[in-house]
Amino acid sequence: MTRSATTASAPSDSADAPSPVLTATDRTVIDGIVREYDQRERLLASGLHPTRTVLLSGPPGVGKSMTMRSIAARVGRPLILIEPTDVIGSLLGESARSLSAAFTAAREQGAVLGLDEIDALAKRRDDVYDVGEFKRFVSTLLVELDRWPDQAPLIAATNHLDLLDPALERRFEVHVRLGLPDEEARVRILRQLLSDLSLAPSSGTIDAIVAVTEGATGASLTGLVHRGARRAVLDDLPLDRALLTAAAPNGAQPDRRARARFAAAARDNGGLTTRAIGELLDCSHTAARRLAEAGAASV
Ligand SMILES: Nc1ncnc2c1ncn2[C@@H]1O[C@H](COP(=O)(O)OP(=O)(O)OP(=O)(O)O)[C@@H](O)[C@H]1O
Ligand SMILES: [Mg+2]
Repeated sequence: MTRSATTASAPSDSADAPSPVLTATDRTVIDGIVREYDQRERLLASGLHPTRTVLLSGPPGVGKSMTMRSIAARVGRPLILIEPTDVIGSLLGESARSLSAAFTAAREQGAVLGLDEIDALAKRRDDVYDVGEFKRFVSTLLVELDRWPDQAPLIAATNHLDLLDPALERRFEVHVRLGLPDEEARVRILRQLLSDLSLAPSSGTIDAIVAVTEGATGASLTGLVHRGARRAVLDDLPLDRALLTAAAPNGAQPDRRARARFAAAARDNGGLTTRAIGELLDCSHTAARRLAEAGAASV
């Protein structure tokens, strides 16, 4: 299991892992787990143990892997990350062995074990590919999960909860379902990204981006900010204009209120003409002007 050893990160590295923006409920659950490890001795003295196994689920790009890294950093343990390609070999017998080796290495190091994309590791056993060797692999996984000690958490992530074997899902003591960020979370993600890049657009611009990014993930917001920032640097564009251009809905049709907020910010903060705004919003320049007026009036 050489790959897992190379993907292990020392506590000092992972101490820098950025924290994901989470809903208040999810944050409370994650903070609670970290606290249990901070005060593990107290729990043990009372015959209790910290949460051993955590399952993170949710659509792609909502911060499951980021959360995994952040938890490892916060409990001050190295992270051994197993991805499906690390263990699924052409010989399935080999896979079960390398999985066990990774678990052993993590146990010996007192590391957090991250099982990323666990659905790819363990599809439901009634899957058409349910052959003997594969069953053995899943059984190994189940046994290893049962044997996982309480010195550091084991964290698995999936964006296909429906594909998970129920026997596997049951093994997790805590299940955190990460969802798409709501408006407030999108503001916080954008502010965090911008401050990491030492960029400070006007708050009207952030507002407008938030308005037209309903359904976006943390990952897509990251892409948007980086795209806009690159344009600002390379094309020498004002930051607000570059970010708003990068946030243009592109075919998606946000509701009229969101389009109006976007049009007003594009005109007033981004200095874009109504013709340019019309192009970004896929409407005529007269419609863009009306939207900008409506947006400005609603602020
Ligand atoms: N909740 C969040 N808060 C802040 N940034 C986020 C959040 N979610 C995603 N991001 C940004 O998107 C990047 C990708 O997120 P991450 O890889 O953790 O998503 P994921 O849920 O594991 O996706 P996948 O299912 O595709 O593996 C992060 O490195 C971060 O920059
Ligand atoms: Mg991931």
